Formats: sequence, structure tokens, C-alpha cells
Amino acid sequence: MRKMRNMRKMIYLVLVGFCLSSAAAAKLGVVQTEGGPVEGLNVDMGFFRTVEVFKGVPFADVPGMWEKPRPHPGWDGVLHATKYRERCLQVTLLQTKTRGSEDCLYLNIFVPHGLSVSTNLPVMVYLFGGAFLLGASDDVEALGESLYDGKEMADRGGVVVVTVNYRVGTLGFLSTGDERLPGNYGLWDQHAAISWVRRNIRAFGGNPDNITIFGQSAGAASVSFQMLSPYNKGLFRRAITQGGVSLSPWALQKNPMALTKKIARKVGCWQTEEDEMLTCLKTADPVKLTMAGKINLLNIFGKGPVMELLELAPVVDGDFIPDEPSKLFHNAAQFDYLAGVNSMDGHMFAGIDVPSINSMKETTTAEQVKGLLAGLTKEKGDAAALSAFNVYSVHWGLAPDPAIVKKTVADVETDFLFLVPTQIALQLHANNTSGARTYSYLFNMKTRIPGFPRWVEAEHAEDLQYLFGKPFSMPLLYFPRHRDLSGYMIAYWTNFAKTGDPSRGDNRVPVPWPAFTKFHHPYLIINNSMSKSSVSYDLRSFYVKYWTQTYSQLPAAERMEEEEKL
Ligand SMILES: *[C@@H]1O[C@H](CO)[C@@H](O)[C@H](O)[C@H]1NC(C)=O
Ligand SMILES: *[C@@H]1O[C@H](CO)[C@@H](O)[C@H](O)[C@H]1NC(C)=O
Ligand SMILES: *[C@@H]1O[C@H](CO)[C@@H](O)[C@H](O)[C@H]1NC(C)=O
Ligand SMILES: *[C@@H]1O[C@H](CO)[C@@H](O)[C@H](O)[C@H]1NC(C)=O
Repeated sequence: MRKMRNMRKMIYLVLVGFCLSSAAAAKLGVVQTEGGPVEGLNVDMGFFRTVEVFKGVPFADVPGMWEKPRPHPGWDGVLHATKYRERCLQVTLLQTKTRGSEDCLYLNIFVPHGLSVSTNLPVMVYLFGGAFLLGASDDVEALGESLYDGKEMADRGGVVVVTVNYRVGTLGFLSTGDERLPGNYGLWDQHAAISWVRRNIRAFGGNPDNITIFGQSAGAASVSFQMLSPYNKGLFRRAITQGGVSLSPWALQKNPMALTKKIARKVGCWQTEEDEMLTCLKTADPVKLTMAGKINLLNIFGKGPVMELLELAPVVDGDFIPDEPSKLFHNAAQFDYLAGVNSMDGHMFAGIDVPSINSMKETTTAEQVKGLLAGLTKEKGDAAALSAFNVYSVHWGLAPDPAIVKKTVADVETDFLFLVPTQIALQLHANNTSGARTYSYLFNMKTRIPGFPRWVEAEHAEDLQYLFGKPFSMPLLYFPRHRDLSGYMIAYWTNFAKTGDPSRGDNRVPVPWPAFTKFHHPYLIINNSMSKSSVSYDLRSFYVKYWTQTYSQLPAAERMEEEEKL
């Protein structure tokens, strides 16, 4: 009897809901921003659920070349925010030409609604990756949808997702290392976008006191820099870095003037007097300047670690980044922090430096491993390379399995470029904070990229398809296990955005994720099959100790000192 009544009530509710949703889907409609009114589009996400999408909302004016972003002058009439705007001017993936525009400081907003219009939702602001050289808030389109499309995360996680553009390449990061061209223009753009979100997101149903910034690769390093900058005090609340931190060796340009001179010559500014050269640079064609920032691909194979080719990057400018990143973690202590890497984040780079690791026929020799380590450790000379080799071959035995040697190459680059810097950042954060939380993860889902050897786990950026819910939005390309994983990641990430604890929030998680503290270093192993044994401790601590203690104590190579004297 009671069951029956409940049933009737259910049917009634469903019918009422149905009428409501078809008659008037919940939506914000025209939203007032500081620049003027904007209107987006509602996208149906299933039963009584929609996501209202605003694409191409300006957060700053068209920036002057190598100038900080300025407020947008505003507009009259309703801005129809239904199309992504152009990406910031950059080289194409093949680097044969440029694409994008100098008019590029726009962001996109994804607001989930149920039966009623959302208010006060937690907000997650995404910073894209792309080596500080390329990328956009609507990057890597497949089947008509950007990888960074925020609809699934917003809908399943109950958060407002914002994706933002920032300047990259020569226009985003050229620097003289002094006040003439301080650099970090791309970081200032990110800061302007986060500030805009803080000032305007309430009108979009977001809670300005509950902002989390997150990013991957160069976007993760960017998040890390935003945490360290004194300009972001109190502006956001939490941060997530995936496969990159400010301490990564590729994330900071330590000799920006040498790079600026190189780029100046490429655009025909040959003046030996620096100020004259800079005057010349400032009148150069933005497209030529952008092309001059490209990575020299001829240099890639077999000429030292590929990482060294990433040159246009943030700098210590004495302002936005006032000091060496490792000395700025007191600024990060106010934010809750969640950070991790993919188990083979370095595989892509390892495959360029030592191509034999991906070959089915060729073996990888101990000499090749030594050669790679020598390249990575050259500031410390031959003794350092040998000590590193001993550490990385310790588990090989007398006749190592060829796959183990190959995997070692991937481990070396994963550790050096991503994993060890991330562990140091986690420790510096946990050691400095009082009250804010710290969480560590390792994403180890097997690669979905066809043609790789069997030992390859999670390649650089492979976490993103799950976080952005592609197994749900493109179900034919994935299996149920991928949807499980996607659901877990969205739950942990959005719970963290809501409460500062990835296990606590509206979304059920498969296993509690313990916090990383000064004295205990647990981490969560993330893949599609998660249980109590997904929590482990002291991630690769043998190697972390080697790089942070043994290696860092080794003296610099004498050869280098002589070079400096010359
Ligand atoms: C806190 O961060 C600073 C850099 O700002 C660092 O020098 C220091 O070692 C950290 N403190 C602790 C207790 O780890
Ligand atoms: C953090 O603090 C612990 C305990 O004092 C210490 O062992 C560790 O070296 C510190 N980490 C860093 C990066 O300073
Ligand atoms: C952040 O959002 C969560 C979930 O909506 C809420 O419980 C919490 O109170 C919010 N925090 C602040 C500071 O508004
Ligand atoms: C998931 O990670 C666990 C470690 O917690 C590992 O034992 C297992 O093999 C992984 N499973 C898959 C499917 O990758």
C-alpha cells in the first residue's frame, strides 16, 4: 500500500518535472558582468539536467605587446557568448606557421542546473597546458568537442567550470630578466582571468569564496606559480596540479636575456646595443616574433634531453614571482593543494631522447641510459651521471630484461621532469601550511595510445580525458571501466573543490584518500579498479631522496666553472 502511494507520488513528480523542464528549462538567461550583459546557450544533459554554456566572454582588453592585461572597456547590448574565441597567437603543432590572434583574452563558463537555477556553486578554473608555447581553452577538438569542454565535470560534479585563455610563446613569455621586459605576461593573463572570476562569478551561480584553480603540464606549473605569487593572496582557495609544478626543471627560464637575443636575431634585430635591440623587437611583426619562438625540431633527436628545448617560460621577475619558486612556499600555505603525476608522464620525452625504448626490434643499451643521464646531469659532470646510473640500474640484476631497461628510461624522465619536483612541492606545501590540506596521487591507468609497448602506463596528459568526462560524452570510444575511472576522478576533484577534502562532498568515492602531511606521505593510486590497496606511502622515495639529497649535494662540474670564467 505504502509502496503504491510512493509510486504514485513518484510518477506525479516526474510528470510535473517533465512539464517544468520542457516548458522552461532552468537557466540564468542574460547575465550582467562588469563589462556588460552576456547570454549563453543551454545544453541538455539528460533528465531535468542542463548545463548553461557561455563561450568567449572577455576578461580583459586586447593586450598591448609585452604589456600586462588591462580591464576590458565594456560593450553595449547583449554579448552572445555562444562561440569560442580565437586562441592567443601561437605556432601551429607542426610549427610551419602561426594561428590565433592577439585579441584572445577570453574565458568560457559551464554552469550546471537541475530543476532550479544554480546559486553559490563551487568554481573550478582550468589552465591549459602546451609547454607555454601553444594551447587554448578549447584545445584538441575531437568529434566536435574540445578536450577541455567543461559540461561533464560541471554536470556530474555540481561545480561551475571555467576555462581560460592566456598568452603563450614569444608574446606570452619573452623577458630581458629586468624591468625593460619583465616577462610572465601569460601568468598575468591567468591572474587577470582568476580575478575576473572572483568579481563576476556570483552572477553565474558560482561562489567567489570557493574557487579552485587546476591545470595540467605547463598549466599545472602555471597553477603552481599562481599559488606562489603574492598577487593572489585570498583570491582563490584551492589548487590542483597535474603533471607539472613551478619546481619542474622546464618550468622556469633562468637566462632569459640570452634567449631574447637569439629571438631578436631571428627577426632581424641585430643591434649590439641592448636598448636599440629592444626598440627594434618592439616594432617587429607579432607573427614573425611568434615564429621565432618555435622549438628547433632539427635539434630534437639525439642531441641532449628534449626538455632543454623548452625555452619560453616564466621567469623570476622580482614582482609577480619575486624569488626562486622554492623560496615562495609561504605564499602557498593558505591554499588547499592536491597534486600528482601520471606514472609515465616522462615517456613521451624519453621516446624522443632514446627512440629505441618504443621499438619492438631494437634493444636499449646501458650506454644509452648512461647517455641520457649524462645529458640530464651535465651541470654536475661525469661523477653525477655515474652515481645516477648506479641508482637507476640497481634493480636490473646481471642480465636485465630488455623491457626493464626501457622502462627505466621512462622512469628517469618521469622522475626528473615531473615526479620528483611534484614531491618536493607537496612537502614544501605540507611543511609550511597550518590548516590547509595537502593530497598526493599517482595516476597509473594503462595507456590507450595504440602501438606502444605493453609496459607503458599513463602517458603525459592521459588523465585529462577521464577528468573531463570523455568516456561519458563519447561513449562509443570507451569501455565501462573507463567510465568508472572518469566517475572516480570527477568525484575526487569536485569534492576537493567543495570541501578541501577529495573524499568528502556530494560525490561518492571508491576509497578514502588520506592527507599528505609533514611526517606522513600517503598517496592515492588512481585507475579503474580502486580499493583500500589503492592507498600507498612514500612514492618512489628512494629516487626522490637521491635527487633531493645525494644529487643536490654534489658539486657543480668543473668544466662549467671554467666556461663561466671564459
Ligand atoms: C616554507 O617555505 C619556505 C619558502 O617560502 C621554505 O624555505 C621553508 O623551508 C618551508 N618551511 C618548512 C617548514 O618546510
Ligand atoms: C619537510 O619536513 C620534514 C620533517 O621535518 C623534513 O624531513 C623534510 O625534508 C621537509 N621537506 C622539505 C622539502 O623541506
Ligand atoms: C564551498 O562550497 C561547499 C559546497 O557547496 C559549501 O559546503 C561550503 O560552505 C562553501 N564554502 C564557502 C567558504 O562558501
Ligand atoms: C591499479 O593500481 C593498483 C595499485 O593500487 C595496481 O595493483 C593495479 O594493477 C592497477 N590496475 C589497473 C587496471 O591498472
